[in-house]
Amino acid sequence: MTISDSTVAIIGTGNIGSRLAANFAAGGQDFLLAGRNAEAARKIAAGLDGHAEVVSVDEAVERAGVLVVAVWLDAFRQLIAQYGGRLAGKVIIDPSNPVGPDGAGGYRKVIGEQESSGQILAGLLPAGARLVKAFGTLSAGSLSAAARQEPDRAVLFYAADDDAVGDLVSDLIRAGGFDPVRVGGLDQSIRIEMFGDLHEFGALGRVVTKSEALKAI
Ligand SMILES: NC(=O)c1ccc[n+]([C@@H]2O[C@H](COP(=O)([O-])OP(=O)(O)OC[C@H]3O[C@@H](n4cnc5c(N)ncnc54)[C@H](OP(=O)(O)O)[C@@H]3O)[C@@H](O)[C@H]2O)c1
Repeated sequence: MTISDSTVAIIGTGNIGSRLAANFAAGGQDFLLAGRNAEAARKIAAGLDGHAEVVSVDEAVERAGVLVVAVWLDAFRQLIAQYGGRLAGKVIIDPSNPVGPDGAGGYRKVIGEQESSGQILAGLLPAGARLVKAFGTLSAGSLSAAARQEPDRAVLFYAADDDAVGDLVSDLIRAGGFDPVRVGGLDQSIRIEMFGDLHEFGALGRVVTKSEALKAI
């Protein structure tokens, strides 16, 4: 299966959802766009040359085989609890960083030091749903600014347990204007979440191209 055989949806029309929508549209990728606020989704879609079809979250879950869930970790958990078995057979793409405000203008991790939101969420999914960790390794600003970078594309890391879903997400990363680099299975998610060594705000500390990324992993 390739991404052109799949119906893709973005759930969440905030900072990341709207920037991914713009990046996908710029790459010619069609998708469903779903948020709690249909008016906000329509405003985003209006600037995307017909690449985004605004639907409800229910309809996105019903129709899409590949769901990019661009919401915070708690909301993600709630969506999994709400849709449960209806997610079976879907590819769930998880950009979440398990962070919240630290009370001093910064961020702190909201799960255990050695835990990753990717593994926690994968453990909550019904049998047959497959999670890929992707699209969360750069800040929202870099996700826009570094898309379609020339001469060498910037990298988006991903983690996947399964080659077939890894290939699908790679197609989507390319459509969004980045070079995909796999860090390994979902047990490597922690490396590409915020504070992880391959996150823009972790030890790596910057946006990288493929040759730099391959040295870092
Ligand atoms: N911001 C960054 O720089 C960045 C970078 C990498 C990864 N991430 C990750 O990306 C995810 C989204 O972050 P963000 O910055 O885009 O947050 P955001 O701007 O606050 O947007 C979150 C979106 O989630 C929507 N939402 C919440 N519950 C929902 C539900 N049940 N159904 C549908 N939509 C729902 C919100 O809808 P309403 O508008 O109705 O509240 C909002 O549109 C987070 O997990 C974050 O860790 C963020």
